[in-house]
Amino acid sequence: MSGICHRRVVAVTGAGRGLGRAHALAFAAEGARVVVNDLGVGLDGTPDPHSPAGQVAREIRAAGGEAVAHAGDIATPEGAATLVGTALDTYGRLDTLVNNAGFLRDRMLVNLTEDDWDAVLRVHLKGHFLTLKHAAAHWRAETRAGRPPAARVINTSSGAGLLGSLGQGNYSAAKAGIVALTLVAAAELARYGVQVNAIAPAARTRMTERTFAAAMTAPEAGFDAMAPENVSPLVVWLGSDTSQGVTGRVFEADGGRITVMEGWRPGPTTDKGARWAPAEAGEAVRKLLTRTTPPGPVHGT
Ligand SMILES: NC(=O)c1ccc[n+]([C@@H]2O[C@H](COP(=O)([O-])OP(=O)(O)OC[C@H]3O[C@@H](n4cnc5c(N)ncnc54)[C@H](O)[C@@H]3O)[C@@H](O)[C@H]2O)c1
Repeated sequence: MSGICHRRVVAVTGAGRGLGRAHALAFAAEGARVVVNDLGVGLDGTPDPHSPAGQVAREIRAAGGEAVAHAGDIATPEGAATLVGTALDTYGRLDTLVNNAGFLRDRMLVNLTEDDWDAVLRVHLKGHFLTLKHAAAHWRAETRAGRPPAARVINTSSGAGLLGSLGQGNYSAAKAGIVALTLVAAAELARYGVQVNAIAPAARTRMTERTFAAAMTAPEAGFDAMAPENVSPLVVWLGSDTSQGVTGRVFEADGGRITVMEGWRPGPTTDKGARWAPAEAGEAVRKLLTRTTPPGPVHGT
């Protein structure tokens, strides 16, 4: 198949269902050879003996594309290493990594257990770091061998990581961490020809089927605005070599909308030129706050 990803090798984590599956199919439709990863877990991370990765790989092959399944846990060093290894062993290269796998353990902070915290930080934040590290080591080796890549990484954050979300303290912290990791990776890996961006998607999947019920889709839009397939075109473009020069960015994507998110930047400031007394610092802060735009509301408030 020809397209903007013709012959590129793309690994997508958590691609057995939901957004990852939509990304995998969309990359294949643009000519990419796809490593379809999915461990196959329940919505809260409970192990499930059946990985849906093979089914998606078969779907891609049935449509005339090329794909291989990988059923490893991307939050383990072995799973992350074999993900990259599967791309190299099967297709001899890796061009694009899409970090997408994850699950939820939603609870208000006072009820959140240490296990809920660890499991969600592990799958999202560590699951992004480990695959990124193994892929980056490969791209550094390629650069050093005189074969500089046009490599791409697309990480998956969330509105929860940008504004916060009630009942999702663990998930919001992990997704905010993914944004910071994206900025560092973009800066560190540019020298190896690697561009790193993040998306904050919104779509109806098993993770959000109650939030984005089918009834919410405005029929006048002429398409299902909450379908996961709406998010994938941006991911495919970012993962192609035509996105040259775009790195270290965060995009919100849902329906037909793409928004460039603009992050922390200095607002009003004051400098006394000496150490403040606490009450005096408080007064200065109150004055500064009158000159700011209040932050957007935390999701769910
Ligand atoms: N759906 C949304 O509106 C939305 C909004 C913001 C962010 N996100 C993020 O998008 C990503 C995809 O979410 P989704 O809505 O498609 O959910 P989903 O539950 O449909 O798909 C996630 C997939 O990841 C897999 N997975 C979980 N842990 C894994 C592991 N350790 N190794 C390999 N695979 C694993 C699951 O088996 C599942 O198939 C997630 O990172 C999610 O946090 C989704």
